[in-house]
Amino acid sequence: MKINGTPYRSVWVDPEDGWSVRIFDQTRLPWAVEILRLANWEEAARAIKTMQVRGAPLIGAVAAYGVALAMRADPGSLDRVLPALNATRPTAINLRWALDRQRARLHNLPIEARAAAAYEEAAAIADDDAETCRRIGENGLPLLAEIAARKGKVNVLTHCNAGWLATVDWGTALAPIYMAHDAGHDVHVWVDETRPRNQGAALTAFELGAHGVKHTVIADNAGGHLMQHGEVDLCIVGTDRVTRQGDVANKIGTYLKALAARDNGVPFWVALPHSTLDWRVRDGVAEIPIEERGEAEVTELTGRTADGRIETVRVVAEGSAAANPAFDVTPARLVTGLITERGRCEASEAGLRDLYPELAG
Ligand code: MRU
Repeated sequence: MKINGTPYRSVWVDPEDGWSVRIFDQTRLPWAVEILRLANWEEAARAIKTMQVRGAPLIGAVAAYGVALAMRADPGSLDRVLPALNATRPTAINLRWALDRQRARLHNLPIEARAAAAYEEAAAIADDDAETCRRIGENGLPLLAEIAARKGKVNVLTHCNAGWLATVDWGTALAPIYMAHDAGHDVHVWVDETRPRNQGAALTAFELGAHGVKHTVIADNAGGHLMQHGEVDLCIVGTDRVTRQGDVANKIGTYLKALAARDNGVPFWVALPHSTLDWRVRDGVAEIPIEERGEAEVTELTGRTADGRIETVRVVAEGSAAANPAFDVTPARLVTGLITERGRCEASEAGLRDLYPELAG
């Protein structure tokens, strides 16, 4: 995807030195486009923990590069680094998936072969994600194209950021939207602001704007009203973990959108790559660990002042406590279907087995 006409991925190896890792500092977007250099695994871990990089597939890819940085510095550190990287964020299963891939690739290799293999594996994970997301776009496109052909336009609602900034390229939920736009359909996106961290207002709006896709940012509470008035043709969201029975963990507030969609007969689709499937877990509400983040994300807001300064202000009454669960689980029964790189399916064990028969074994 492009920023000011220049194509980027959201993580890459510096072509100058051939080993350090580059990311966008997503805590600075949309006010400043700043590229950060990660020179060791601790910096990669910090970038994930502080959400300089975020979004389930991107977290996995950056963690994989974190392993590569660690192997370059000390190939004997594998058993220490894997759990440390895995502990950076609890909900997105892509993190464990990427680290498991690195473990499988590296643990039997002689020490001196580990660094090169770890870089190779991280690159394969990144390439796989970019191609997977492109296919998700292709498989989601007909949903939008059908509505656009019937109505002349299509209104999509999305929550959080599941675009190219959350993956290596293309995005999951946004990939079909980019493809519909590029195919000439009249697409408009309702962008939930996604409090408390505003990934919708800051990142999804930034991405869609950069790509020229029509969009309108709405308060998180507006979606139900818009659905009641026929302003939403379909919802598409990304996810951090999908269970064996098709339950979906995603950014806090997703569940409420799914409830409103069900009440209003609006299709509610979830886009995911294979790396987001967690076959070990069945009941998402009971079993998926939900990240609890700090109070300050709720009590404070960050933005840019008219004279260009980035400032954080308190918006909650002094002395009030705040709670900050970062994700929720939408039960499979509220999900119209899943959009994957292998096609679309019902959000159920049977639906997933059809597309991923190898998981059944
Ligand atoms: O806390 P974040 O910003 O990492 O949460 C991101 C989301 O919830 C995304 O919707 C999800 O990771 C899917 S990204 C393709």
